[in-house]
Amino acid sequence: MNPPLLKVSGVSKAYGAIQAVDAVSFEVQPGEIFGVIGPNGSGKTTLFNSMLGQISPDAGRIELKGQDVSSLGPLELNRRGVGRTFQTLQVFSKMTVRDNLIVAAQEHRGSLWSRMFAPTESGLGEQADALLAQFHINHVAQKKAGELSYGQQKLVDIAMAFMSAPDLILLDEPCAGVNPHLVEQISKLLKDLNKSRGGSFVVIEHNMDFVMGLCHRIMVMVEGRVLCVGTPDEVRNNKDVLDAYLGN
Ligand SMILES: Nc1ncnc2c1ncn2[C@@H]1O[C@H](COP(=O)(O)OP(=O)(O)O)[C@@H](O)[C@H]1O
Ligand SMILES: [Mg+2]
Repeated sequence: MNPPLLKVSGVSKAYGAIQAVDAVSFEVQPGEIFGVIGPNGSGKTTLFNSMLGQISPDAGRIELKGQDVSSLGPLELNRRGVGRTFQTLQVFSKMTVRDNLIVAAQEHRGSLWSRMFAPTESGLGEQADALLAQFHINHVAQKKAGELSYGQQKLVDIAMAFMSAPDLILLDEPCAGVNPHLVEQISKLLKDLNKSRGGSFVVIEHNMDFVMGLCHRIMVMVEGRVLCVGTPDEVRNNKDVLDAYLGN
């Protein structure tokens, strides 16, 4: 049997007396959209940062396609096919939208040295144009990213994560501060990208309708621990979730 795309085993991270992430284990299969929900402060972002080599967890192991990647940093993980978006926008506001996408992919391609001497676009322009069209932001390709609405910048931000053609993308609250119309658009986009590119996602999000409508499986975190993992229906009807998370 093929190994899971992502296997997280016993990851823990404390900040002083706060156990931000407490022995979290889960697996994500190829092609899966996996949701992570939980109240503010339940450890979701810390878990992401641990999985992405942004911080070193105190314990635990991360495997990608059966290989131990626990000790790798963000750039090396990106080269191995893991992309991410952050809870806050990461676009370069003075650069055009299209250049933002191209630079995002170049970052993934190698050292500054090799980038300086490689042809500027080297096929990335076409890839950027395809994504801009898929994200319905091709009409603003030549605008400075900072001139766009917050919602459009969010789309640019998500498109940037796809430029390195990752196997797995981790999205931290893609719908934060976004209007309901755009929430639907993002949901539809991720479903399309999941189908057309076989992309797998791990998505942290507070918007329940979004998570329930998009994800194949959902993990609920409370106080750093995994409360349960299941399909949207299983999670919706789980008594522990209703008690602990929804406060019923
Ligand atoms: N860099 C940090 N230093 C100290 N405490 C932190 C740090 N990052 C997160 N925490 C704490 O860890 C807990 C989990 O935070 P976080 O992972 O951001 O949760 P979530 O993303 O689910 O809202 C919170 O109690 C938070 O205050
Ligand atoms: Mg967070």
